[in-house]
Amino acid sequence: MNETYEFYTASADYVRVRMPFVPEIGLILGSALGPLAAKLENPVEIAYRDIPNFLVSTAPGHAGKLIFGELAGKRLVCMSGRFHSYEGYDFEQLSIPVRLFKLLGVRAVILTNAAGGVNLSYRPGDIMIISDHIKFTGHSPLRGRNLDEFGERFFDISKMYTPELRQLALRCAGGSGLTVHEGVYFFMTGPQFETPAEIRAIRTLGGDAVGMSTVTEALTAAHCGLPVLAISVITNMAAGVLNQPVTSEEVDETGKLVSGRFSRYLERIIGEM
Ligand code: HPA
Repeated sequence: MNETYEFYTASADYVRVRMPFVPEIGLILGSALGPLAAKLENPVEIAYRDIPNFLVSTAPGHAGKLIFGELAGKRLVCMSGRFHSYEGYDFEQLSIPVRLFKLLGVRAVILTNAAGGVNLSYRPGDIMIISDHIKFTGHSPLRGRNLDEFGERFFDISKMYTPELRQLALRCAGGSGLTVHEGVYFFMTGPQFETPAEIRAIRTLGGDAVGMSTVTEALTAAHCGLPVLAISVITNMAAGVLNQPVTSEEVDETGKLVSGRFSRYLERIIGEM
């Protein structure tokens, strides 16, 4: 993919005349973590398939629409349904959603995901605020022609998970009924879960949780100067930690189990942003 700036502005032009307000925060919710979207007040929905140059979501449990609405006194745009590399998209295509957010005017993005627990002190149902990531796939959403309108060719990502937002999220953890950690997210492309040997290697390399999303969106946000808060729900222990297979049923069940508390936690964070 080697699109021009106008490729992105065509999507934004379509959405801008249909959105009820300029959003302050862009939200991308992971699988089984969607209920927050249902809490948005005065929602206005735009289907992905109607937006020029946008992508269509194929993952089960992902709804495929942009929702504008208010929550905790903030104006939000929420992607209900996200895009993953394992669906067949190029990394470059995965820059599209966050660039749309940027063009619509958001001043920060929040990314959530389901992830496997690699750190042996984590438990399913715990929360991990992402402090940093490791991505060894060699791909980047910023590969190809650089669009100077969004950001510089070479850019620093040493603080891409915005320290102030991480501090805020940690402060909001008290009274949430959730166990909240900070840790390193290790990106794997999937769609297969990992081997036990991969998980041991990830642990040795410094990964605390493993998952198949978020990093492309966070990198796109960092490129265009948007602050990022990214949070994992540990839905299962990663492969080989327990003597049982990793299943999408467990991922979904744990996601559903914590989704109420997690939504309230996010709402509190959003209210303070
Ligand atoms: N590995 C990768 N992605 C995941 C996992 C996992 O164990 N759990 C939820 N998403």
